Amino acid sequence: MDEKRAGTKRVAVIPGDGIGKEVILQAVRAIEATGAAVEMMEFDWGADRYLRDQTTVPPDGFAMLALDFDAILVGAFGDPRVKTNIHAKEILLGMRFKMDLYANVRPVRLLDAALCPLKFVEPKDIDFVVLRENTEGVYTDAGGVFKQGTPDEIATQEDINTRKGVERIIRYAFEYCRTHAKLDGSPRSQLLMCDKSNAMTHAGGLWQRVFKEVSTEYPAITAQHMYVDALCMQMVRDPRQFDVIVTNNMFGDIITDLAAALQGGLGMAASGNIHPGRTSMFEPVHGSAPPIAGKNQANPFGAILTAAMMLRHLEFTREADKIEAAVLEGVRQKKTTQDVGGSLGTKEAGEWIVARLSS
Ligand code: NAI
Ligand code: MG
Repeated sequence: MDEKRAGTKRVAVIPGDGIGKEVILQAVRAIEATGAAVEMMEFDWGADRYLRDQTTVPPDGFAMLALDFDAILVGAFGDPRVKTNIHAKEILLGMRFKMDLYANVRPVRLLDAALCPLKFVEPKDIDFVVLRENTEGVYTDAGGVFKQGTPDEIATQEDINTRKGVERIIRYAFEYCRTHAKLDGSPRSQLLMCDKSNAMTHAGGLWQRVFKEVSTEYPAITAQHMYVDALCMQMVRDPRQFDVIVTNNMFGDIITDLAAALQGGLGMAASGNIHPGRTSMFEPVHGSAPPIAGKNQANPFGAILTAAMMLRHLEFTREADKIEAAVLEGVRQKKTTQDVGGSLGTKEAGEWIVARLSS
């Protein structure tokens, strides 16, 4: 900690695999172009390293990240050569679980009407945030297989929900509403808890009780509830109604892919994995997209918007604003990759942003 220079923030950059490498390079250049006092150090954790020396996370890797860095910028993990996906699991889920980054923050914003597959929807209509519990649920790998390969095979996958885990993400969500405004400046005043408590009664019951209890401490925020299936329908039917959504690990994973489609696809979506007061991690929502990797086709804007989110978290507000404004202008002028209607490559779209930031 002591060697962190006053004012200058240290960021660990882990591009990972596939298009992660291509988009993070552009995100790093955008950060540099803002002139933010950030020192970045790159790490080669990912499939290449794993195939070379069997290392997924070097010894004490997570402790090193937590002690020596203020934030982590990550690309994506997943490579067809690593069938087990063990490196992705150990690096990505390792960071989320072992560094206890319990709040996965996924903003959903429409930058331009042309990017939304829904008719009659304008940018002002889509500005909501999904807060996904990031350390429990069905992603803890609890469960097992019994009598595998026989007609009597039984597979169980357990849904772990702790009082502590549920309460802290719900509190985080109410605090998020209290401390964040919408793009138009109006307060975030509605928090919707999404679950499937009609069918998953034990876990859902805990979420319901905690949500009700904590909501009494925040009378200024309207507490709402929706079952996850109804929410999927409503998100497509009328996304205007959403403000802040809090949900468990799996539902958050699923509804944010749907939400990403509302904003132009996975290539546009940014996210943060946060534990307040600790070293947090920022990554685009998309994966490593093997079919388009190395072809200069991947949209770098999700990664660049992720960089802005990280800078804002590190209190480089002006620099974050500049990046978001540059991306908005890029989208308006169609200086984009093909997935969102432009004709530029990954590198060229990134260069346009850098030129805009440097002007
Ligand atoms: P994916 O997000 O990599 O790709 C899904 C679809 O979106 C593909 O058609 C892809 O071409 C497209 N796409 C994604 N990002 C894009 C971008 N920036 N620009 C343009 N198009 C983009 O998800 P998929 O195919 O399910 O998984 C591929 C690999 O990535 C797997 O190994 C998977 O495990 C891994 N993965 C890793 C994640 C992470 O590291 N956070 C998240 C999701 C998947
Ligand atoms: Mg996902």
